Amino acid sequence: MRNIADQKVKTPFYGSESLDSLPLPVILISSNCILLAANKRAREVFNGFRAGEPLSNMITDSYFLEACARVFEKNEAMECEIVRTVRRKRTFQASISPFQSKEGDGAYIAIYETTAAREAERMRASFVADVSHELRSPLTTLIATIETLRGRAGANPDTRARFIELMAQETERMHGIVDDLLSLSATEAVEHILPNQTANLLPIMTNIAKVLSTKARAKGMDIVLEIEDDLPDMRGEYDELYQAIYNLAENAIKYGESDSNVTLRVDVTEHSMEIKVHNYGTPIQEKHIPRLTERFYRVDKSRSRDLGGTGLGLAIVKHIINRHLGELNITSSEEGGTTFSVTFPVMPEEN
Ligand SMILES: Nc1ncnc2c1ncn2[C@@H]1O[C@H](COP(=O)(O)OP(=O)(O)O)[C@@H](O)[C@H]1O
Ligand SMILES: [Mg+2]
Repeated sequence: MRNIADQKVKTPFYGSESLDSLPLPVILISSNCILLAANKRAREVFNGFRAGEPLSNMITDSYFLEACARVFEKNEAMECEIVRTVRRKRTFQASISPFQSKEGDGAYIAIYETTAAREAERMRASFVADVSHELRSPLTTLIATIETLRGRAGANPDTRARFIELMAQETERMHGIVDDLLSLSATEAVEHILPNQTANLLPIMTNIAKVLSTKARAKGMDIVLEIEDDLPDMRGEYDELYQAIYNLAENAIKYGESDSNVTLRVDVTEHSMEIKVHNYGTPIQEKHIPRLTERFYRVDKSRSRDLGGTGLGLAIVKHIINRHLGELNITSSEEGGTTFSVTFPVMPEEN
């Protein structure tokens, strides 16, 4: 195989200018893995390009460098992954295609970024692991309880009643997880579709306050509504807005301090509608705040579980807010209490 780098031939074809118009990173190397050209995208992603120097100056991934050598050995195209570890870790798929020309032999390396796809795959795998783990613990309790009831202890009416109650609780918990998972996937599926209905937050929040009043009373709490009677409509799906605000209000009751008030408020400005759900109680530490909308994230897992939580509520809320182009802001302090505020832009009516 002849080597174009040796021939010091530079035709416009090899010039990086003509490659610059390509939207993907492309690198051209000679058959002894010397850099000949790299387009603008390639030089942005991988530093260190200098024509005439080894490819390894630019890309250090050893599997990829071996793959390039193999392409020339076998004289056939290959696909290979590149992991870039400098700065932020990024992954790429490279397609290495050898060519022969009268000036010499070399290879084109076309590169596609796969970082986002890899991350999505990693998240999917960890989600499946999380779901299995969450369902597994109530199932383990159920299996153990059934075993006990089958044995001699099952003959005792008191034990039986206690264990059946335990089974009911664990089944309820699994039911809650499955229901929330279905809601999560339903809200995620429509997250990128703009709502085409109009809704008014006043009846939504009044209904939520009514439905949750028993729960609030049980903790000595009152739900205070601070909403104008002539609240304008907004573009949004009634059911989704109900679900999101219900989740926030229910959290305020669950995690708020007994014998204090929970406030549901709406502020209207020219360009936005801001919902505030406020409660008093132990503040949420700063470090947890950015992670609260992650699936299954709970500040205190056992407390949330005892209160019947799944850790999916705020993940669902986040999808609904995104669909309505809103923003979630969380503030929490000892004196000021905790406020979950959601700002929705006023979207123009659809014609
Ligand atoms: N108003 C609040 N005050 C304090 N902590 C809260 C509040 N709302 C949510 N959290 C924290 O955020 C976590 C996630 O909330 P969420 O997704 O609704 O799950 P859960 O099923 O536990 O209610 C909760 O477990 C709790 O730790
Ligand atoms: Mg919740």
